Parts: sequence; structure tokens; C-alpha cells
Amino acid sequence: MRVVVLENADSVAQFAADFFVQQVKRKPNSVLGLATGSTPLGTYRKLIEAYQAGRVSFKDVTTFNLDEYYGLEPTHEQSYRRFMRESLFDHIDVEPSRTHVPLGTANNVEAETEAYEAAIVAAGGIDVQLLGIGTDGHIAFNEPGSSFASRTRLKTLTRRTRQDNARFFGSLDLVPKLALTMGIGSILEARQLLLLACGEGKAEAIAKSVEGPVSAICPGSALQLHRRAIVVLDKGAAKGLSQLEYYADCEMNLNELTKV
Ligand code: PGA
Repeated sequence: MRVVVLENADSVAQFAADFFVQQVKRKPNSVLGLATGSTPLGTYRKLIEAYQAGRVSFKDVTTFNLDEYYGLEPTHEQSYRRFMRESLFDHIDVEPSRTHVPLGTANNVEAETEAYEAAIVAAGGIDVQLLGIGTDGHIAFNEPGSSFASRTRLKTLTRRTRQDNARFFGSLDLVPKLALTMGIGSILEARQLLLLACGEGKAEAIAKSVEGPVSAICPGSALQLHRRAIVVLDKGAAKGLSQLEYYADCEMNLNELTKV
């Protein structure tokens, strides 16, 4: 796992945006795995800026989002489909029909989740999957205890996750109790993982994910099983890590290593 510790949230967003821009320049028809929440917003703003400045085009890109609240219409103001439209899709040249978010109002959830997995396979698999992390260690909506073999499915949200997200809904009672989410097994199949975390509130979840034992009780620890996982942190989120000096040494040597 590559652990990159940067000065602040803006540098984390810049790193992620540069990473995506380079990916899309190298492979214009990339399949990008996208995430919602507060953390990726800065990255999306920088991707929009890069598009507006003519530095990148997303016209041949396909996207898959990690999750969606169960029961929310795609137009609901807290739905992740709407979040993605407002935060990114409406401001870049991605083809709307190639953007995928699980349908939270699907009548047949099993058919919807199976079709979602099939669409990822049909697109050739995800090149880069962006991830945030919950204070409880969840990735996507895979809550503690989720199997590392899990696939896209309906999942019960923890009270902690619902409390964390109540700020968007105005009240805990309005936060859905269930969500459709890609599984940890599905996420681990992406060719590259890029997990972002900012702020001290994420420090414990990050320490457990990066340096703790690999355990279903901390879904983020599944990243230790992936060949190409990059964890990008600001100083606050990195606070609980014990090997900071080593991670910094690795970053310093990276240029040398790529020359070899
Ligand atoms: P946040 O959510 O970016 O709003 O902190 C992250 C997550 O729950 O995955």
C-alpha cells in the first residue's frame, strides 16, 4: 500500500484530480469508479477546472458510483445520482448514458445489483476506484462486518453512519436505513484503488485500515489485500499512523524507483 500524507485537504484533492487527469489522458476511455460524500468534492471541483481549462476531456469515459440510498428517487436532493450530477457530471463532457449509479428505487433489488455488476464487467472493469472512508471504517456502504467477498447488494447502515450523514438530511429520522452498495469483493477487483481521507475524525479508521489487522470489522483494512492501493491523507487523518517517517521515505524514493 502506498501512503501519501499531504499538508491539507486541498493538496489531497489536487493529488486525486491529477491522478484522474493522467489516467484519462493515458486511456481516454477509462472506466472510473466514483464516490460521494464531502471528501471527494474538492477533487471533483478540480476535475471540472481541468476540463474547463481544456486540460482533459471525459467524453469517452465510463463511470460507476459505489452506492445509493435505498428508496430515494434519482432526483431526490440527497440521492447520490443527484449529488453526482450537481458536483461533477453536469459540468464536464461525460456522456450521461455512460454514468452509472445504482438505482435506489429498483423494484427488484437483486436484478438491479446483478445488472450493476454485469455492467462493470461489460465495460471492462474499473480502472481507478475512488474511495472515502467512514468514521466506522466503512468503504462505500460496506459497514463493519461486511464480507471481503461481498458483491453489490442491499446493506443496512449503522447508526453511526446515519448520524454522520444526518447533517445532509437535517434529521437522523430522514436518513435512509438501507443502501445499495458495491461489495468489498467488487471494489477489490478494480485495477487501482485511491482512498482519500481528511481530518482527525478519520484518524482512527485510517490507522486501523492501514496498520491494523486485516479484519471484516474494519472494511477499510481490505485495502491491504490489493496490489495497487494508494491512501492519500491530510495531516489530521494521518495522525494515528505509527510509520509516518517510513511512508515519507517511500515517497521520496518513488522517483528513484520509477527510474530503475
Ligand atoms: P465523507 O464520507 O467524505 O462525507 O466523510 C465518507 C464515507 O462515508 O465514505
